Amino acid sequence: MRVVKTISEVREFVRSVRKGGGCVGLVPTMGALHAGHLALIRKSVRQDDATVVSIFVNPTQFGPAEDLAAYPRSLEQDVAACQAEGVDLIFAPDVTNMYPEGFATYVEVEGLTDGLCGRFRPGHFRGVTTIVSKLLNIVQPDRAYFGEKDYQQLIVIKRMAADLNFPIEIVPVSTVREKDGLAISSRNVYLTAEERAVAPALYRALEQAAQAVGDGASGRDAEEIVKQTLEGEPLFKLQYVEAVHPETLEPRGDQGTPMVIAAAAHLGSTRLIDNIKIEGRDQC
Ligand code: PAJ
Repeated sequence: MRVVKTISEVREFVRSVRKGGGCVGLVPTMGALHAGHLALIRKSVRQDDATVVSIFVNPTQFGPAEDLAAYPRSLEQDVAACQAEGVDLIFAPDVTNMYPEGFATYVEVEGLTDGLCGRFRPGHFRGVTTIVSKLLNIVQPDRAYFGEKDYQQLIVIKRMAADLNFPIEIVPVSTVREKDGLAISSRNVYLTAEERAVAPALYRALEQAAQAVGDGASGRDAEEIVKQTLEGEPLFKLQYVEAVHPETLEPRGDQGTPMVIAAAAHLGSTRLIDNIKIEGRDQC
């Protein structure tokens, strides 16, 4: 496994894989790798002849009041984890490799980025789609892997890849959870012991709502269930809960399945997000 910083080294590596007739998978990350990232990496290692993992804490997707400076960084451990999983190349550029002086081009997906996290993190998805389109251009993989944990991000990237004609399969990967249901996230390290103990309540609330939707409840009902359940958890401050269509991200309102119920909540100074998908019932 090699660790490289420059775009030309990545291109050279990918050229050599292609020369041998191999296909390439890309797993974009911001590092601080955990079991969630490893699920994406494992899927690529299984499916693709060569797996490239990018590790880059992308400044353009952080708002001015967000945790860019404090974001966990652990390159040495990340390199060891990738090595153990059979990754072929790590691309860990500096900010100046990705955003040289004079950088002025951004990629923006309209509509899908208005609701959910987009409403509370202005500019966030513009930063994500800009960096991901750059990574897709640099690596030119056959497949790129994204977690359902960041559900809106996955849908926005799928739209971008289709709209910009990237000849790339976007592969979704299910959310990896702790035993108690908490979705694994790099930001979980910020939680105090007391916060960590109550953190699974977010997913439990989503599960309760999903159960009701399975029994015929509407999007609005589902949102109400999540709100009421989390009101009983004094440490939680719910930022939003929205029941949306899994592809269009349009609010479900009075409608039922198919549905994704997505929520963001503050637990102390940490912002947690999670979601649950309820498939439509088969027509008889
Ligand atoms: P990051 O938060 O490091 O996540 C990298 C990838 O891992 C994303 O596709 C994310 O959805 C996935 N992931 C994180 N936690 C997961 C979990 N518990 N289960 C399954 N997948 C999980 O998302 C980003 O970085 C950035 O926005 C990025 C796409 C790299 C662009 O900068």
